[in-house]
Amino acid sequence: MAGAAVGTAHLCTRCPCLLMSSLPQGLRFTARRLAFSPLSSLAASSSSSSLSLSLFRHGASLRGRAGPFTGVLASTRLGLGGIPPQMEPCVRRDLSVRSKVMETADAVMEDKEGGDGVEPVPSSSVPEFRKRLRIADIKGGEDGGLGRVGETMVVRGWVRTCRIQKTFSFIEVNDGSAVSNLQTVVLSDVEGYDKIEAGQVNTGASVAVEGVLVESKGAKQKVELKATKLTLIGGTDPASFPIQKKKLTREYLRSVAHLRPRTNTFGAVARVRTALAYATHQFFREQGFVWVASPIITASDCEGAGEQFCVTTLIPSSHEDTKTPVSQVPTTKDGLIDWSQDFFGKPAFLTVSGQLNGETYATALCDIYTFGPTFRAENSNTTRHLAEFWMIEPELAFADLKDDMACATAYLQYVVRYVLDNCMEDLEFFNQWVEKGIITRLTNVVEKPFVHVTYTEAVELLQKSKKKFEFPVKWGADLQSEHERYLTEVAFSGNPVIVTDYPKEIKAFYMRQNEDEKTVAAMDILVPRVGELIGGSQREERLEVLERRIEELGLSKESYWWYLDLRRYGSVPHAGFGLGFERLVQFSTGIENIRDVIPFPRTPNSAEF
Ligand code: 4AD
Ligand code: MG
Repeated sequence: MAGAAVGTAHLCTRCPCLLMSSLPQGLRFTARRLAFSPLSSLAASSSSSSLSLSLFRHGASLRGRAGPFTGVLASTRLGLGGIPPQMEPCVRRDLSVRSKVMETADAVMEDKEGGDGVEPVPSSSVPEFRKRLRIADIKGGEDGGLGRVGETMVVRGWVRTCRIQKTFSFIEVNDGSAVSNLQTVVLSDVEGYDKIEAGQVNTGASVAVEGVLVESKGAKQKVELKATKLTLIGGTDPASFPIQKKKLTREYLRSVAHLRPRTNTFGAVARVRTALAYATHQFFREQGFVWVASPIITASDCEGAGEQFCVTTLIPSSHEDTKTPVSQVPTTKDGLIDWSQDFFGKPAFLTVSGQLNGETYATALCDIYTFGPTFRAENSNTTRHLAEFWMIEPELAFADLKDDMACATAYLQYVVRYVLDNCMEDLEFFNQWVEKGIITRLTNVVEKPFVHVTYTEAVELLQKSKKKFEFPVKWGADLQSEHERYLTEVAFSGNPVIVTDYPKEIKAFYMRQNEDEKTVAAMDILVPRVGELIGGSQREERLEVLERRIEELGLSKESYWWYLDLRRYGSVPHAGFGLGFERLVQFSTGIENIRDVIPFPRTPNSAEF
């Protein structure tokens, strides 16, 4: 019988944490999208009668096992647990858990009050597509894997080290799911041991190890895998494998960027990077923003800085054509390049920003964001610049600079909190090896309010400081990285700083002019170690003012015709910002050089891999 009540869950209405009471034996349930909590997105399954776990509140990880529970929450913003005494002050809201199709014992959760509480979804959400037991799932729980002792399992991954003893060997296997390896113990009578004896199980080789999880006697781990079978999947040549188990410099690792994800540092960076991307989409989705794919090829220069890469088929259109003589480039009678013969019939470039296109959708859907690659042909050989980087650009209609600042603050705090909640093992690794104190620094970002100063105040502050800067500080000049870092790291003791109202001369044409006619409603967010992380503004929504500014700057009004149309038809105050995703990854991992937080960095004279 479908739809019969099989249990009750209690939901706390004060904080986004869900409490479950006991459920019948054999029940599998899926609960998803609890509509009254914007943070909710839950998918869990259990084959247990007892779901009385310890309390999981905001952000606690539910990965791994706690007693017989094996569920995984899609969002760790929800907790699942018994009803502990400390929840007494929380207001409970009962949800009845019903089985939708009793035959399969799948269940959905419904709000008892029958309202908008819970959106039931079929529990057949994701069919199993591949059996893979991740090392993170084995060892990641609070008990370090002890709950799984006695289980038979297969792990697949790459050998970090193989230590050969007299009658057995230790193989440390890493599968990229966590910093930590799984230690496997292979006795000399185990099937496949001959590969070890033959010297084929070396650092970098890929293996599958089948065995039983046992308690470890070693101090470094709680569990280890006692092998019953070892399979060598892909061997390596120990003499030439570039990632040996020793400390390798980041400079060296850049020269083997195709293999560097096999190191602890790059594995951890990749996991934090994906967590930040996930949290980004989650934040904007929860806030009702629509993701817009802005084009990568464009004919307009958003920032007006002339730092674009040209996209053309006039000169070599393939690798085979690289020997094309210059004389083959078509020219006009005046000896200029004849762009009419180019692919797009006019010059086209890689985009420096998706903002202008984003504005077209914001002035229809209200709140949108872009998240995609952007390109800048600036010849900056710094630790903060890439020629190809990813940018997140939200755009809010019916919004001013204050709304923009508040959105940027909420977004930044959300994604940093997400990393603190979900990537603690990686953060602890960074804390030990990359930046001492990173966890405290990130926690402060989440907990403390951001500082706000105007550009004019910032300049005064810098001028009053006793620090000798390489670039002079004067009103009207752009802030350099050294100034930005002084403000956030020294003047405001590590707090993120929002600087607003910059001189119009140093900012892009689209920013809204302030009443003083000297400054614009711009804002940059400066953070320790990175400097400028976010650049944004309220946009000039007044047609005449915008046209005047385009003319003043000698830009072509014609090429911005469609952008100006947004001001001709139903113009609204709107604002947005751009955040450099790699700078966010730097900020969240402590990694000093931006080239080490993107898989394959593109910088002047470097496009290998
Ligand atoms: O300040 P920017 O140039 O602003 C814009 O592009 C606006 N259209 C954004 C908007 O309002 N929608 O760039 C935004 C951010 C910077 O704050 C920085 O974090 C990052 O993009 N960024 C770079 N990151 C890596 N390499 C580069 N070369 C970068 N240039 C900018
Ligand atoms: Mg900027």
